[in-house]
Amino acid sequence: MTKTAAIVGGGVIGGGWAARFLLNGWDVRVFDPDPEAQRKMDEALTNARRAMPGLVDVAMPAEGVMSFHTTIEEAVTGAEWIQESVPERLDIKHKTLAEIQAACLASAVIGSSTSGFKPSELQDGAANPGQIMVCHPFNPVYLMPLIEVVPSPSTNAAHVTKAKETLTSLGMYPLQVRKEIDAHIADRFLEAVWREALWLVKDGVATTEEIDNAIRYGFGIRWAQMGLFDTYRTAGGEAGMRHFMAQFGPALKWPWTKLMDVPEFTDELVDLIAGQSDAQSGHMSIADMLRIRDNNLVAMMRALKAQDFGAGALMNAHEQHLRAQIGLDARVADIADVSQPLVTVRRTVPLDWTDYNGHMNEAKYLQAFGDATDRFMEMIGCDAAYIATGGSYFTAETHIRHVDEAHAGAVIEVRTQVLMGQGKKMHLWHEMYEADRLLATGEHFLLHVSLASRKPCDPSAEIVSALERVAVAHAALPNPEGAGRAVGQRP
Ligand SMILES: NC(=O)c1ccc[n+]([C@@H]2O[C@H](COP(=O)([O-])OP(=O)(O)OC[C@H]3O[C@@H](n4cnc5c(N)ncnc54)[C@H](O)[C@@H]3O)[C@@H](O)[C@H]2O)c1
Repeated sequence: MTKTAAIVGGGVIGGGWAARFLLNGWDVRVFDPDPEAQRKMDEALTNARRAMPGLVDVAMPAEGVMSFHTTIEEAVTGAEWIQESVPERLDIKHKTLAEIQAACLASAVIGSSTSGFKPSELQDGAANPGQIMVCHPFNPVYLMPLIEVVPSPSTNAAHVTKAKETLTSLGMYPLQVRKEIDAHIADRFLEAVWREALWLVKDGVATTEEIDNAIRYGFGIRWAQMGLFDTYRTAGGEAGMRHFMAQFGPALKWPWTKLMDVPEFTDELVDLIAGQSDAQSGHMSIADMLRIRDNNLVAMMRALKAQDFGAGALMNAHEQHLRAQIGLDARVADIADVSQPLVTVRRTVPLDWTDYNGHMNEAKYLQAFGDATDRFMEMIGCDAAYIATGGSYFTAETHIRHVDEAHAGAVIEVRTQVLMGQGKKMHLWHEMYEADRLLATGEHFLLHVSLASRKPCDPSAEIVSALERVAVAHAALPNPEGAGRAVGQRP
């Protein structure tokens, strides 16, 4: 059954939450008094549709339905999750939470996006404090996985468990904060960095652009993959963290930073910083910058995905969950009817798969067909565990025909027909579709080999029998148009 989330406050953060839920198949009900809210949320959704599905190499569930409501009561009634993202003022938060609790299910999680308030401050005077917790996201909510989940001692443990399960199912990383504290964990760092940056600009040590360069060419890249402590551990040489601390510990006493001193937020300082920021990036619109940001974030997370590390490892785990949901992890033995071509790939074309012509790069057609072959191998039992025993298939020949264009965000499906499967030989025919539109065909000829000798050999009896079962069933299908064709031949 489709699940429902209510989004109360649909600005920058509420819009990101709405996209996160919708693209994961939830229906979303929005309340925001601003008449422009729907337009702004539609824009956020357009950006999310372009970027978010590329975080995983499998199709996302069918999108839910978004509706707009004129009262909080109407928006939250029946919702399983309510996300409060109204302006950061405690009086507005209290009034909003009271209205939410007057109408919502007692079982619903009420998450607050607050950057600074503690959950106990939000719960003050609440009718049912047990269902309220902080679920603090990072912008853009549709791409950044981290959510700081901060319960107070009065938050129900069952609601916290439900919240963490839900967030995980949305591809997010719920980090439960052990102790409530102003600004949780991440924003405390960010504030320290922000304070120091303001001093560096004010004191004329660096411009806004120089500070951004100091981050993006250096420690920002390191932090994105290992964080702070593991980065320092590796910086300590073979002796690791102890050596690092011995070397840099004394520097903390100097100290290098201004620590708690805050520069006065004068008009002069605002003009100085805003002026430098205009000089740095005023040639781009904010909309352009959002697209650049999303492209970079998706590309970075996809790189970490290939390494199965950090945020990339999280995306791989989420992908496994999505695969199981759509049955894209079934084996031939689990499929009752194999008489038709089998779906081996169902995914979205990610942002980094397109080229200067604005469509899918030809190398990515091979990748998609290669993934289809890998998936078919897995279906017949040639999976990672089997390969570890010393047998696998090597591709001997490939022929791809490009029939029509595929663009970023398109959901593509590869259907695979076995042209021949006998002993060590496997001849596959892949067709790639966007809905009913044929985009490309790929023909692969493979040989089973021993990984020890690198020479052809027979696969296991289980693989031979699964492959033959499909091959026999597919022998009744017509020979596909274009199979066995040489380059440049026309029908
Ligand atoms: N911007 C960020 O980077 C960021 C990151 C994490 C968390 N947050 C937190 O998210 C919350 C929202 O911040 P934002 O940046 O989205 O602000 P925003 O100004 O973009 O959005 C706030 C939205 O709330 C609406 N609103 C105002 N009063 C309302 C009411 N009574 N009921 C319902 N909606 C109302 C406004 O019309 C607006 O659309 C804040 O608590 C903030 O601390 C912000």
